[in-house]
Amino acid sequence: MYLVTTKRNTMKRIIILTGAGMSAESGISTFRDNNGLWENHRIEEVATPEAWERNPEMVLEFYNQRRKQLFEVKPNAGHRALVRLEKKFDVQIITQNVDDLHERAGSSKVLHLHGELKKVRSTVDQNLIYELDHWEIKLGDKCEKGSQLRPHIVWFGETVPMIDKATEMVKTSDIFMVIGTSMVVYPAAGLIHYVEWEIPKYYVDPKAFSVQGISNLKVLRQKAGEALPGLVDRLLKEG
Ligand code: OAD
Repeated sequence: MYLVTTKRNTMKRIIILTGAGMSAESGISTFRDNNGLWENHRIEEVATPEAWERNPEMVLEFYNQRRKQLFEVKPNAGHRALVRLEKKFDVQIITQNVDDLHERAGSSKVLHLHGELKKVRSTVDQNLIYELDHWEIKLGDKCEKGSQLRPHIVWFGETVPMIDKATEMVKTSDIFMVIGTSMVVYPAAGLIHYVEWEIPKYYVDPKAFSVQGISNLKVLRQKAGEALPGLVDRLLKEG
C-alpha cells in the first residue's frame, strides 16, 4: 500500500443561474417582459401535460417555432463573457433556458433545468432522448418503440429532474451569479437560498427586483451583454 496525495482542485467555483434575459440580446423573446412569450401564448395551451393531451399539434407547433428561431440566432456578448471566466475559475452554469447558446458560445459545463429545445423524447420511455438537427417535429414522428415524440421540455406541473443536482452544485459556490431571470418560477428561483451567506452574489437584470434576506448581494440593473464583459474582467483580475 502506497501513501498518495490527491491534488485538490484549488480553482474557485462560480455557479451561474441564467434565465431568458440571458438570451434576449440574441433575439429570443423572454416570457414575462412586454410582448413576451406568455403574453402571446397561454401557458395552459402550450406548456402543460394537459395541453399535450388535448392538442399535441398545437404544442408541437409552439416548440417547432421556438426551435426554428434557435437555428437562426447566435450567442451574444453576455454568453461569450461567461466563457472567459473559465480561464481562471471552475464555472458551472445552471440554466432555465432551453436554448443551446451557452454551449455554442463555448461554456463547458451547462446544466439545463427546464429541458432542451433541440432534443425530443419518447412518450413511453423518458430515457429515449434524441438530438435533432432540424427544427420541425410532426404528429406521427415516433421513437424506436413506436410512440409519438414530444419536446424534451419540463412543462408546468411536471417535476424538475435536475433540481437536486443543481441544489448540490449551488451549495459548493465560491461566487454565485443570477442573470436575466424574473425569479418567479420555482424550484429554480429558490436555488439562491442554498448559497452560503458569506459568498459574494451578483444579480444582473435591468429589472432586478430588490431581493430581501440575501446577504452579500450586488445588483447590476443592466443588460447581460452590457454588464457581463466588465464584471468578468473584474473577477478575472481579482481572482
Ligand atoms: P422571464 O421572462 O420571467 O424573465 C426574464 C428576465 O430577463 C426579466 O427579469 C427581465 O428583466 C430580464 N431581461 C430582459 N432583457 C434582459 C437582458 N438583455 N439582460 C439581462 N436580463 C434581461 O424568464 P425566466 O425568469 O427565465 O419555463 O422564466 C423562468 C421560466 O419560466 C422559464 O424557464 C420558462 C418560463 O415559463 C418553462 O417554460 C418551463
